[in-house]
Amino acid sequence: MTDPAATDLSKDAAARAAAALVQPGMRLGLGTGSTAAIFVRRLAQRVAAEGFDLRCAATSKATAELATSLGLKVEELDEIGWLDLTIDGADEVDPDLNLIKGGGAAHLREKIVATASDRMVVIADQGKVVDRLGAFHLPVEVIPFGWQATRTLIQRALERLDLGQRPILRRKRGDQPLLTDEGNFVLDLALEAIPDPEALAAELSSIAGMVEHGLFLNICQLAIIGRPDGSVVEL
Ligand code: 5RP
Repeated sequence: MTDPAATDLSKDAAARAAAALVQPGMRLGLGTGSTAAIFVRRLAQRVAAEGFDLRCAATSKATAELATSLGLKVEELDEIGWLDLTIDGADEVDPDLNLIKGGGAAHLREKIVATASDRMVVIADQGKVVDRLGAFHLPVEVIPFGWQATRTLIQRALERLDLGQRPILRRKRGDQPLLTDEGNFVLDLALEAIPDPEALAAELSSIAGMVEHGLFLNICQLAIIGRPDGSVVEL
């Protein structure tokens, strides 16, 4: 069983190490989720202590609000144009630095921001490191229009690849479908394991109502994995 306090210490260790990577004047992408939020807090502390300038683009409304409240300068990605570095969390990290993201339903903006960056660095606790992707349900953002037809097409794609069960519509409390920052729905795919992530990504990308899936393949260059004792290992 995972100790939540140890997990928090691990996230903080990774966040502190990532905050140290940031250079004055950088154009920086800020991820979403609990680990990314710790990073934003650590970064804001460093900026306040050292008094340097940064230009930040956020991957969600929640992160934009948090960063702004802590005094960081947040701009639209298109105002900045291109980013030097993006720091984000992940739901799974494999040995090749391929990821599952989207546990916080922000993977569309996260992928846009990460791929508009010279470098993407993931921060996580050891529990996110896996031999093979797929135990975490794979999030897929879909357009609300015709979403059930899109779900059928996704299910057929999964059957072609001998994968998984019926995609699950993510709901918020009160049973309404959860809406992403872009006003879309999220389908979660219970796959258990993804033997060929490239093949699955290609299948999903061919479906019209599919906006973006949570497989981040060949996007991340470094993963900083925090430990409860405050140390980190790099993958
Ligand atoms: C949000 C994400 C998050 O980065 C991912 O879910 C990890 O979150 P946390 O740090 O809270 O475990 O992809 O869409």
